[in-house]
This record gives sequence, C-alpha cells and structure tokens, in this order.
Amino acid sequence: MKRTHKCNQVTEDLIGQEISVTGWIHRRRDHGGVIFFDLRDEDGLVQVVYNPESENTFSLAETCRNEYVILSKGLVRERPEGTENSNLVTGKVEIVASELEVLNTSLPIPFQLDEYTSVGEETRLKYRFLDLRRPEMQQNLRLRSKVSSVFRSFLDKQDFVEIETPLLTKATPEGARDYLVPSRTFPGQFFALPQSPQLFKQTLMASGFEKYFQFAKCFRDEDLRADRQPEFTQLDIELSFADSEEVITLITEMIKQVFKETLSVDLGDFPKIPYQEAISKYGIDKPDLRNPLELIEVKDLFLDCDFKVFNEPANDSNSRIAALRVPNGKLLTRKQIDDYTDFVGNYGAKGLAYIRVEDPSKGKDGLQSPIIKFIEDSIIDSLLKVLDVKEGDIIFFGAGKNNVVNDSLAALRDLVAKDLDLLTCEWAPCWVVDFPMFEKNKSGELTPLHHPFTAPSCSIEELKKDPLSALTEAYDVVLNGTELGGGSVRIHDKEMQKAVLELLNIEDQEAEEKFGFLISALQHGCPPHAGLAIGFDRMIMLMTDSESIRDVIAFPKTQTASCLLTDAPGEAAKDQLEELHIRFHGIDKEV
Ligand code: AMO
Ligand code: AMP
Repeated sequence: MKRTHKCNQVTEDLIGQEISVTGWIHRRRDHGGVIFFDLRDEDGLVQVVYNPESENTFSLAETCRNEYVILSKGLVRERPEGTENSNLVTGKVEIVASELEVLNTSLPIPFQLDEYTSVGEETRLKYRFLDLRRPEMQQNLRLRSKVSSVFRSFLDKQDFVEIETPLLTKATPEGARDYLVPSRTFPGQFFALPQSPQLFKQTLMASGFEKYFQFAKCFRDEDLRADRQPEFTQLDIELSFADSEEVITLITEMIKQVFKETLSVDLGDFPKIPYQEAISKYGIDKPDLRNPLELIEVKDLFLDCDFKVFNEPANDSNSRIAALRVPNGKLLTRKQIDDYTDFVGNYGAKGLAYIRVEDPSKGKDGLQSPIIKFIEDSIIDSLLKVLDVKEGDIIFFGAGKNNVVNDSLAALRDLVAKDLDLLTCEWAPCWVVDFPMFEKNKSGELTPLHHPFTAPSCSIEELKKDPLSALTEAYDVVLNGTELGGGSVRIHDKEMQKAVLELLNIEDQEAEEKFGFLISALQHGCPPHAGLAIGFDRMIMLMTDSESIRDVIAFPKTQTASCLLTDAPGEAAKDQLEELHIRFHGIDKEV
C-alpha cells in the first residue's frame, strides 16, 4: 500500500475511486460500532470511516489513538446527507476504509492541537514538534519560506550576489551584548557571534562586489520582548556607488513585491517622514500611520501661565507640552481615563491632564476638566483655536521632559486608537529619514543612533563643532508602527570615520583592535556604499498578524533566552571545559 493522494485532494471528483492517504489522526471518534478518523496531513483534513464489516481493519482502528501516523486505503463516497462539513475542502466526501496500516504510534499528547491556547506557551515550546503540526504554525513557516524565495528572486533579477559571512568572528558594534564562544586554540580568547554582518558587508564593497545580500543569522544578548529574539534573521543588503534614494527606491519596490505576490496586498506609497517630524507628531521614530491621531506642540501657549505643571516645561528647553486631540473621546469613561493616567505613569509621566469638549461654542463654560480652573481664559481660547476642537473631543496633555512626554504619549496614542477602534487602514508603511547622528546616553556621552559607520550629512568640521545637530543619511522602514529595517549611506572616507570614532571616545588603538580590518579596507580604494537590513522574522510576524516573533520561528528562545525543546543552554562536560581552559569563579560548579 502506498499513498495515492494528499488529504486535501480527496474531493467529489474522486467519488467511487479507491485511494490511499497518509497522515496523523487529528481526532478519533467512536460512534458505537463505527469509527471516524479526521486524518490530517500538511495540507488539510479528510474523514476516514471504519466499519465493523472490515473486521481486521476495524479492530486495528479501535487500537489507534490521536496523532498515530497511519496509511489507509478505501473507497471515496459522498457523505450521508446532513453530515457534510462546509469548513473543509473535503467536507462533502469521506473514505470508507478497507485497509489500515499503523506507520507509528504516539504517546498521549500533552495538548490537543486545536486546544493549544489552553496550555501555556511553555508546553508549546517544550513539545514544539507538536505545536508546529498546527495549521497556523504550518502556514506561518510556509509564508516565511515563500517570502524568502520572493526576496531571493527579486534580488537575483537585479544582479545581487548572495555571500555568506562568518559566524565565528569579532564583536560587531550594534549596541547589544555579544554572545561569546571560547577559542580552544587561543586560550583565554573568544570569538563573538555577529550582531549583524555590518563590518563584513562593508568589507565586501571594498572587495569589489557591488551588490550583496544575505539571509544572515544575527545574535544579540539583550532584554527580550515580543518582537525580539537573541538569535534572529536579517535580510542584509549593501550596494556600492548607491545613494540613499536608490536604496529607498529598491527596498520599497522589493517589499511591495513581496506583499503583492504572497498576500495580494498593494502597500501603496511609502511616505518619507523626517525623524524630527516623527518625534514631534507621534512621539516616536516608528509611527503607526494607520492611526490618525497626532500630537500637537502647545508649549508656546503656556510660557506665562500660572499653572505650574505646564509653566515649568514651557520654559525649559528640554521639555515639551504636547496635546493629543481625540475626536469622539466622549466615549471614554472616567475609569478609562484613570487607567490611562496609570498607564502613562509607567513611562514616567507624573499625570495626565485632559479637557473634555462638551460645547465649543460656549468657550471655557463648554469644557469639563480638572485643570481649566488653573489656566487663564485667554490661554484656553488660544488653545481651543490651535487645536481646532470639536464637540465630543477629549484632549490629553503631556507636560514634562521631552523623552517622558514622547514615550508616554506615543504609547497612549496607540492605546486610545485601539480602544476606540480608530485605525484607518490595514497597512501603513513609511520611511523615517534624516536621523541625528548622535544622541546623549544617560551618562551624558554621545552614542550613535544607528552605528558608527553611518555617514553624517555634514562636513567633518561641522560635525566636530556641533555633533548633536548633525543629521545622517540613515533611513528606517516602518510598517504599522514596527521598525522593519534600517540602514544608511556609510562613511567611506577614513578622516570622517576617524572623526566619528573620536567623538565616541574610541581611541585609534581600540578602533584598530575592534575593526581595524574595516578601517584598512576603507583606506585601500573602498567605493562609496550604502545598504540596509530588514528584520526578516519581524516582517513575517507582521505579515502573519502574529502576536509574538516566536510564532514565526521554528525553534525560538524564551524570554529568558533558553530553548525549552533542547534545554539549551546546558552545562559543558569537564573535559570540554579543560580543553577550553575555562574554570568557573563565583558559581557553585564542580570542575
Ligand atoms: P539594526 O540593528 O537596525 O541594523 O537591525 C536591522 C533590523 O533587524 C531587526 N532586529 C531584530 N529582530 C529580531 N530580534 C532582534 N533582537 C532584533 N534586532 C534587530 C529589526 C531591525 O530593523 N547593520 C545594521 C543594518 C544596516 O545598517 O545595514 C543593523 O543591524 O527589524
Ligand atoms: P497635580 O497638580 O499634580 O494634582 O495635577 C493637576 C492635573 O494635571 C492632574 O489632572 C494631573 O493628572 C495633571 N498632570 C500632572 N502632571 C502632569 C504632567 N507632567 N503632564 C500632564 N498632566 C499632568
């Protein structure tokens, strides 16, 4: 007996034919005298019926349990009236089995595949081979494969060369912690797993490859969130002699093609938003443009206001007062507003002032708010005008340090849109451009917003004079509020690279040790170049509408960066550690 058809192929066309199918017993039902299997393979389900008349087959079917793997032969017939299942492609027919072979048995499974939500994610990850049998997971990984093949053929047609770069390498500065691998041949020394192929792809440009790409495994030991994994995949791209416009056009076209070919979605235009505008309007550099709400800066109105909560930030250059006008905000209850106040508190906001607009024609008398009694009438009048308020609006205010107001109102903007169902479309891509070169970290030191190889848009002199005002030729592609990818035109001039490293307090010797090979390549006829990397897992996560990046990775890590399936990380054997010259300090290990 050999399989003749996949489950989903068993439709009315085959009625009267004898066929064989293989698969897993998705559900076994015993209807007193007749046994039904919903048989599942990678494409779908079909019903197989076992009658007592086929004595041996029937008694074997009686011993079968869910998730047994079987091969069964039988006659396709129309299902009796009233028993059709319109949810299935095969729902009008069933196979009346004459033969059955059990290819493998299964222990009782820890969760039924269609009841996976009732078990914790831990169980799903521990028994990942079962979890991956679920149609949703199968579809996610199939889409992943399809998307990568569309990417590949797009890049192939444009003469890109796929080149692999090493995993055992030196640290690559992308701002996260490194995963280290001890060297056996150099006692006390370590390889680092790459945080990205950044240094190698730039070196490839110096090597005369003008268009490079790679599906690159990247490793970052950082705090994990729903859209981050310690080990993830980038579609990494670099082009010589290209400017930012060329990269942006190419990537826009490529992403549009992927959506068109795999989801039949036309993503439309990708508007370009300067970084400062994004922060000012949305409080964040990866705005969700499906959300129509915008922040409006009202700082200037409160310069002379007596209300201390607003007066102080109005007169501080590192602070802002932003208003978020929510049309139809009257639907929000007092309880919701109290919850929002707690919510913005998580981002450091000390409160959430608000005004309800009941009747704008009555000026101050038409408003309801805990703060208007503190604010002069003339300021209220100007405020209502600037915000162009309408009946039923609610206006929220964030006042304080820029970062606190931006973080809290950006998050509130998302939450309110969700609560009031405000999203205007399904997909909203954009490019964020003109990023500053540096920002200050908590210790007041300059750090690059992207990485130190990003080209500033100004001269070396201007950069040195006022590094915080310098913009770069960096660009991020954002979809529905998620940063899909980012890149930049690179520095290919040794003097500019030196100036940037100096501003970052990276001495010549340190630069030489960390990425001397790149600096050397820049000095030996490296062409101007630019590129970008797309977070491949994140993109699939968005395309499949998954809540977690773990749902689009076959064998992902948990929030604590462990693998529950393999139980990695694990301890190393004593002789392995000896070979690697490793001894433990401060942890209780027998070595
Ligand atoms: P960047 O660090 O912005 O740039 O990474 C590019 C994209 O990779 C995705 N990404 C992640 N996905 C899952 N888990 C993570 N921990 C994670 N970290 C990043 C994001 C991000 O936009 N070398 C540069 C690119 C360049 O300049 O060409 C780089 O790595 O979607
Ligand atoms: P308080 O004077 O702290 O009682 O605040 C008066 C009103 O202003 C309350 O409605 C607070 O929620 C609000 N509020 C306080 N601090 C801020 C802030 N930093 N940003 C916005 N609103 C605030």
